[in-house]
Amino acid sequence: MDEDSRDERYELVIVSNRLPVDRVAGDDGEASWRPSPGGLVAALEPVMRQEDGVWIGWAGVADEVIEPFEADGISLIPVPLSEQEIEEYYEGFSNDTLWPLYHDVIAPPSYHREWWDAYLRVNRRFADAAARASAPGAVVWVHDYQLQLVPALLREARPDLVIGFFNHIPFPPYGIYSQLPWRRQIIDGLLGADVIGFQRVADAGNFSRAVRRLKGFETRGPIIEVPIESDDPASGSHRHVTSNKHGGLVRTVLARQFPISIDTQKYQDLASRPEIQERARQIREDLGNPKTIMLGVDRLDYTKGIGHRLKAFGELLAEDKISVDDVTLVQVASPSRERVETYRLLRDEIELTVGRINGDYSSISHTAIAYLHHGYPREEMVALYLAADVMLVTALRDGMNLVAKEYVASRVDEDGVLVLSEFAGASDELRQALLINPHDIEGLKEAMLAAIAMPRRERARRMRALRKRVITNDVARWSASFLDALTRSAHGDHPLQNPPTNRG
Ligand code: G6P
Repeated sequence: MDEDSRDERYELVIVSNRLPVDRVAGDDGEASWRPSPGGLVAALEPVMRQEDGVWIGWAGVADEVIEPFEADGISLIPVPLSEQEIEEYYEGFSNDTLWPLYHDVIAPPSYHREWWDAYLRVNRRFADAAARASAPGAVVWVHDYQLQLVPALLREARPDLVIGFFNHIPFPPYGIYSQLPWRRQIIDGLLGADVIGFQRVADAGNFSRAVRRLKGFETRGPIIEVPIESDDPASGSHRHVTSNKHGGLVRTVLARQFPISIDTQKYQDLASRPEIQERARQIREDLGNPKTIMLGVDRLDYTKGIGHRLKAFGELLAEDKISVDDVTLVQVASPSRERVETYRLLRDEIELTVGRINGDYSSISHTAIAYLHHGYPREEMVALYLAADVMLVTALRDGMNLVAKEYVASRVDEDGVLVLSEFAGASDELRQALLINPHDIEGLKEAMLAAIAMPRRERARRMRALRKRVITNDVARWSASFLDALTRSAHGDHPLQNPPTNRG
């Protein structure tokens, strides 16, 4: 990378905590880059390939300054984090304060002032990098809870930019959100954006309520009126400066749902490949040809309800409602945030439970639970989806849950049953799944039995309806509709009418 290109300015700037690649040391000692885990990367990769833009994010390593580079045709600008910042900003404030708080306090959030200081410092660094990389009037799209202060910091430095923010995880009800000692600063940070996107109608509603309660600002449907001072030097460049009903000057911010999706075509293509279908058959054979394969695929996270799923499965075995000869549960739990204590404890708990159930019920020829603590390439995931008669998504709280959509997209044979938690954002759209409350273990067990026994015709009917939804609303449509709202906002037009609905 030469000196000139380092100062290059881009028209579309994506900012997320992680770059879409991780650096890994090869066998020969040479470093290389491979796609990093997480739904966000899967969702945005196709957008970045189409647009001539740049992606700003952390490269996943400590204490290293890496020059901007290109990977797979995408321009990347790494933001460095020190070992201490990884502990305080990423593992601490992002994943031990905000993550549990925003997921209904399933685990208790920790509040530490030093973590907040690091969060502020790192958010400033991301905002500075975005300000430097953006062409005049550029569109900047900031992602997720790790970077909620970036929109306001960026607006302050570059009032000419069009700024969008998308929250991939839930936004909690006010009664929970109000615990946060820095609840006003986060709201101020987000309100720096022109458009703030959420997964569900309920998330956008929770956010607007927090704005009204904490700031006293008025909201009209999805529009939030942010008062500005007339002598504010930036007021001239604010695109949506208008007067409110009291005659005061306000900036308008659009906050509404934009339910994220997947690259549906990619999953359909993979699922149509003969070698992947053959691999699916092989998986069934390797499992001892059970009548029913149930599948769970999750990051090993306490929000995913893996323990609830195992409890229900274990009870069905204990009550002789199912037998290991007929039913196998495959649980893929990909390693995640392993240095955060709550995640370490969760792993121990899950592995203890799996060990107990297998010890009690497995036979020499049939294992009750095939537990896999790995991430897998997409090809293998699609083969697993094709092999799985029943997909179990039992999240206690989840922004969207793309696994549910990946399963549906992969079932080109219009077979398979999706058991889906109503606490996952996907349940707003995927209404023909068997919707469950994962806290209701009896209800979950009944849904699992119903899924096993469901006749082929009903499976096909439900799967066809689910597939229609995921085929129509793919990730390209999601990003296009968000970017469209942002572009319109650049022209001073906040579309009040016809927001995309996530009701199916
Ligand atoms: C969720 C978050 C993403 C995050 C991903 C993986 O999907 O919404 O922002 O990147 O989990 O988590 P990690 O901590 O490994 O980035």
